[in-house]
Amino acid sequence: MQPPRLAAENERMQKMNGYPEVRLRRMRRTAAIRDMFAMPTPGPEKFIWPVFVAPGSGRREAIASMPDQFRYSADELVKALAPVVAQGVKSVLLFGVPDAQGEGKDECGTSAADPHGVVQRAIPVLRAAYPDLVIFTDVCLCAYTSHGHCGPRDPDGDVDNDAACEMLARVAVSHARAGADGVAPSAMMDGQVAAIRHALDEEGFTKTLLVSYSTKFASQMYGPFRDAEGSAPGHGDRQGYQASARDPRTALRESVLDEAEGADALMVKPALFYLDMIREVSQRTLLPVMAYNVSGEYSMIHAAAAAGYCDLYATARESLDAIFRAGATQVISYWAPFYSRIYHMG
Ligand code: PBG
Ligand code: ZN
Repeated sequence: MQPPRLAAENERMQKMNGYPEVRLRRMRRTAAIRDMFAMPTPGPEKFIWPVFVAPGSGRREAIASMPDQFRYSADELVKALAPVVAQGVKSVLLFGVPDAQGEGKDECGTSAADPHGVVQRAIPVLRAAYPDLVIFTDVCLCAYTSHGHCGPRDPDGDVDNDAACEMLARVAVSHARAGADGVAPSAMMDGQVAAIRHALDEEGFTKTLLVSYSTKFASQMYGPFRDAEGSAPGHGDRQGYQASARDPRTALRESVLDEAEGADALMVKPALFYLDMIREVSQRTLLPVMAYNVSGEYSMIHAAAAAGYCDLYATARESLDAIFRAGATQVISYWAPFYSRIYHMG
């Protein structure tokens, strides 16, 4: 028999597992208390701004399907970056938009590796204006092939994997030579990371970062981007090379293999429909796991806000919170230029 006092105490202790002794609302009574228990707010240095560069000068063209995003010539991008860098954002991911539909495009996407191509010329211009900017480049061929696929096609009409890898390696070397800090291959070809790392090292670019779009799904969320880039496949789709949303096991292997091939960072793309993949990849690696908050994710929130269904920046914030909570270590996002507004800083 326990003494009555101890028995009562035990009973009280057991009840401490729940209401009424435990009241979780204490944890969120005031804004200051909520901030205290919140996960850390990601700094602007965790954001990479994906941005479209076009040839020429004085160009700043609105992208119809992506509000507040533009195609910039390099000189205009220098201007546009000033307020972005002022907020503490330190990095861009460059996408080249070669001029006039069709012009300079061919079966193999040869012009993607042109040393005088739009990306290759923009890098030194940005570097001169922003010596510390971390400049990543997207390495793919779809904006440069006549058919809009991410590599040359074989006689069956499939994308020729090994020929694509060879081209991608040349493109990556041309970007490194132009001064990119890092290259980011997005074509989802088998062996592309190994091919690129090997080519970079052979050419002496041992310091160039290789960020792999390692787990990249075939997604409807790239629609606005393809509009911005003029890179929609002329026929067919990308399901033959991009990962299947319905086969998460193989999608995870993509990241595992890219780590083994020498990637410096992995990526899950898109982010919001694939939060489970961000979590699973981050549990299986010690590499950084970037998330690409893609064009469709950005434009959907804009569309909903324009229709009056939600508040633009508050909803953007909630979506970014979800991406970081899932385990992303950096985010590639069109929201980067709006960091201060979204996080109420400055
Ligand atoms: C090119 C590429 C795409 C995106 C990044 N690189 C499009 C695609 O694979 O069709 C999508 C980015 C976005 O939607 O914001 N391989
Ligand atoms: Zn591509």
